[in-house]
Amino acid sequence: MGKSTILDGNSFQPGSGADLTEQDAQLIARRTRVLGPSYRLFYDRPVHLVRGADTRVWDAEGNEYLDAYNNVPSVGHANPRVAAAVHEQMRRLNTHSRYLQDGIVDYAERLVATMPDEVSQVMFTNSGSESNDLALRMAEHATGGTGVVVTSEAYHGTTDIVAKASPAMGSDFALGAHVETVPAPDAYRAGGGEGLGRHFAEQLTAAFDRLRARGVAPSAFLVDTIMASDGVLSDPAVLGPALEATHRAGALLIADEVQPGFARTGDRLWGFARHGIVPDLVSMGKPMGNGFPVAALAGRPELFGPFGRDIAYFNTFGGSSAAVAAAAAVLDEIQERELHLNSERLGAAIRADIRTLMDRHSCVGDVRGAGLFIGVEIVRDRGTREPDPAMAHDLINAMRDLHVLISVAGPDNSVLKIRPMLTYTRADADRLVETLDLALTRCGRALQA
Ligand SMILES: Cc1ncc(COP(=O)(O)O)c(C=O)c1O
Repeated sequence: MGKSTILDGNSFQPGSGADLTEQDAQLIARRTRVLGPSYRLFYDRPVHLVRGADTRVWDAEGNEYLDAYNNVPSVGHANPRVAAAVHEQMRRLNTHSRYLQDGIVDYAERLVATMPDEVSQVMFTNSGSESNDLALRMAEHATGGTGVVVTSEAYHGTTDIVAKASPAMGSDFALGAHVETVPAPDAYRAGGGEGLGRHFAEQLTAAFDRLRARGVAPSAFLVDTIMASDGVLSDPAVLGPALEATHRAGALLIADEVQPGFARTGDRLWGFARHGIVPDLVSMGKPMGNGFPVAALAGRPELFGPFGRDIAYFNTFGGSSAAVAAAAAVLDEIQERELHLNSERLGAAIRADIRTLMDRHSCVGDVRGAGLFIGVEIVRDRGTREPDPAMAHDLINAMRDLHVLISVAGPDNSVLKIRPMLTYTRADADRLVETLDLALTRCGRALQA
């Protein structure tokens, strides 16, 4: 398996001869006919979902699955509080931000209260892509430059400027002429310690220098603070020296919290907090509305002020009454049920349990992550640390057949990407680890046969 795009990892191959039900085969044919070829389905045998409740989903045949992948419904599938909040708001009023409404202001105040004092303003969008797009526009306005540095397998979204700063789109997709990449800090292969942060910062400086050398002034370092598509590179925290290097280059640091934000990576709510930094701009989305489209960009007033004075901003659906109701209900769930603490504690326990499997399964090279964002590196050989994408592919499909849903990440699609809902119980965690043990045993045996 060669390098592929982020969307090709764990994707269904039409015509692969997968054992599909008649109903699913027909739906796939209709889907391809009407949606065209750009969409990808997960798994060798796609899962046809019809219903969800908290940590579970059900397929069309009534089979139940434990969801250990979906980071969007992070307070649980079909969360009753979020559903009720949206329903009530839709029945009362759902309109945009050009009218005076309490909800958007109340929520914005609550949201920025979870951030460092310096990050005190917020603007609303509909997706993580739009938030990153707005962040890059704001960085360009503030710095006068256009040059953007991203990590070597980063994914930041689908708008034109953001896709052109997303190397995970694949080698066939040209990055923008104003974009440079920096190798992601892979502690498993490069060795950890403080040195890695300094080394990463030096490489970042070199990337900004390369931009300048071809006449492009630096504007931003856009970084996913858990480096999910780079393979879930949680430790060590490297962004302190990187922030200094970014500012020295005259650029801004945009923390992309679309994956790590809202307590996914533990008790501090934001991935950048694990790195001990205060970013210039913070983009967020995915779990913000538990599946209802709502996203945002937070930042320093010194940046929002000049941008806003020069450029009026209106986004028809961004921050609409119902979107804000969904987001407020998600924050209520996290704060009142202390789900950030569950993320921290249960995430650590799951990682520890998966590490115990290393004694029996030699293909598990590394278990890492933060909170309930877990990466399990699958290797051919622990000595050489050579990635084993074929084994990772077999494992996620074996897990799917055993009714636990996970996926893959990383430059070689060899890192199991495990993102349980923040509402996971100990029993859910046990089922996840026991099923992984079973899948490892099955795939390991298949390998020897
Ligand atoms: C790190 C990161 N940033 C941005 C995005 C884009 O978000 P959206 O799909 O909501 O536009 C994604 C989506 O997967 C992401 O993983």
